[in-house]
Amino acid sequence: MKLLVTGGAGYIGSHVVRSAEQNGHECVVIDNLSTGVSSRISCPLVQLDLAAPTAVADLNALMKEHRFDAVIHLAARKQVGESVQIPETYYLDNLGGLANLLLAMKANDVKKLVFSSSAATYGMPDVDKVDEDYPGRPINPYGETKLIGEWMVKNAKVWGLRGVNLRYFNVAGCGPKELADTAALNLIPIAINALKAGKAPIVFGTDYPTPDGSCIRDYVHVQDLAEAHVAAVDYLERDDRPFDTFNVGTGEGASVIQVLDQLKISSGINFEYQISDRRAGDPPRLVAKVERIQEVLGFKAKHGLEEIVSSAWAAS
Ligand code: WQD
Repeated sequence: MKLLVTGGAGYIGSHVVRSAEQNGHECVVIDNLSTGVSSRISCPLVQLDLAAPTAVADLNALMKEHRFDAVIHLAARKQVGESVQIPETYYLDNLGGLANLLLAMKANDVKKLVFSSSAATYGMPDVDKVDEDYPGRPINPYGETKLIGEWMVKNAKVWGLRGVNLRYFNVAGCGPKELADTAALNLIPIAINALKAGKAPIVFGTDYPTPDGSCIRDYVHVQDLAEAHVAAVDYLERDDRPFDTFNVGTGEGASVIQVLDQLKISSGINFEYQISDRRAGDPPRLVAKVERIQEVLGFKAKHGLEEIVSSAWAAS
């Protein structure tokens, strides 16, 4: 298939492009290069800001030039803390950008979309493993933009769009080294950066109601996540349901302390970590129920925590 991948020069997007190409798809990338890096990809790249006033016209021209079979939409802002500080910018970029994309897709009869959503749509779920039907109550503007984005995708069924929302859990690790996450906004890259700077990684709270007191998350390898996108595109090709939502995780939880213990092994450095206060807004536990994606898309994550942390360390 011929795919338009928005945000395809980013850390996750470039892994998606690589997987799609390896599975025989042809990609064209749109990226505003705010955090994306052009050298991560070798397919055609169009520098375009989806939220710009000229975006629909630019997208129309691009979609007329290439007859895309489907779109994978990853381009978005993704920092929770920043979204609290500049909510309007998050609504404009994440929701305005998606609205522009949908307008152009409708005008050009492109009717298949994979949307990059997030476990942030759940907020603070009070369950052992969260399934896709759990009512979403996001607790920050970032999570709100992802939940509203899902509704936008769903409601586009009125003109024939078929959409898959992929709710990413905690994405980490690295495939080919040149695609590494350079931003250091999440636990594993932050801890690696601290170690490399000779500082102690920090644990935000050890007084949570979890076995070791630190927060539990579902860490999913970026390479697995990329393959979930390919499975979603294939599914859109073979099925005709208008709309689906899937968690993308492993179904296994790991605590912050377990992640840091793995980092000690992967790095070969027997470091001490520092315990600090809780970070505001952290749910004690956020782990995916993964049966639906396994049953419907036939997707199952292949990599565990060891490969996630070791690949991130090796790429750093
Ligand atoms: C993981 C755990 C921290 C740094 C975020 C978004 C979510 C999704 C994924 C996009 C938490 C703890 C962290 C540190 C620590 N993003 N931590 N020391 O918050 O689970 O999820 O990224 O869709 O929407 O909220 O990820 O990597 O920030 O934190 O102890 O130096 O590590 O408190 O428990 P989070 P994270």
